[in-house]
Amino acid sequence: RNLDKLLVTFKTAGDTFEVEGTVGDSLLDVVINKDIPLDGFGACEGTLACCTCHVILQQSHFDRLAKPEEEEMDMLDLAPELSDQSRLGCQVILSKEDKPGITVFVPSITRDARTI
Ligand code: FES
Repeated sequence: RNLDKLLVTFKTAGDTFEVEGTVGDSLLDVVINKDIPLDGFGACEGTLACCTCHVILQQSHFDRLAKPEEEEMDMLDLAPELSDQSRLGCQVILSKEDKPGITVFVPSITRDARTI
């Protein structure tokens, strides 16, 4: 089963969290399963309603993903610190191409779109 595992590194302004992820899981799944202490991350539980799961990906990682759906784009527009490599973590699925590992940047400011 080791074949389906890869290293996922989450970086915030002050912390680095290195955990094992499983192919097929979303970045939000990894944060939840590994109990990564990211305040407010994933508030809508992956239902594309909040944008608190905003992450900034490495260019190579961003480029190999399918383009975001319009719903995700709309939600991303509300995210603070938006960048050209921004995605919503609940929509980014780990794949075999991500091996041996990926690094994901988590902006320090989150906003819950449901409270705007
Ligand atoms: Fe709310 Fe991703 S968890 S949009």
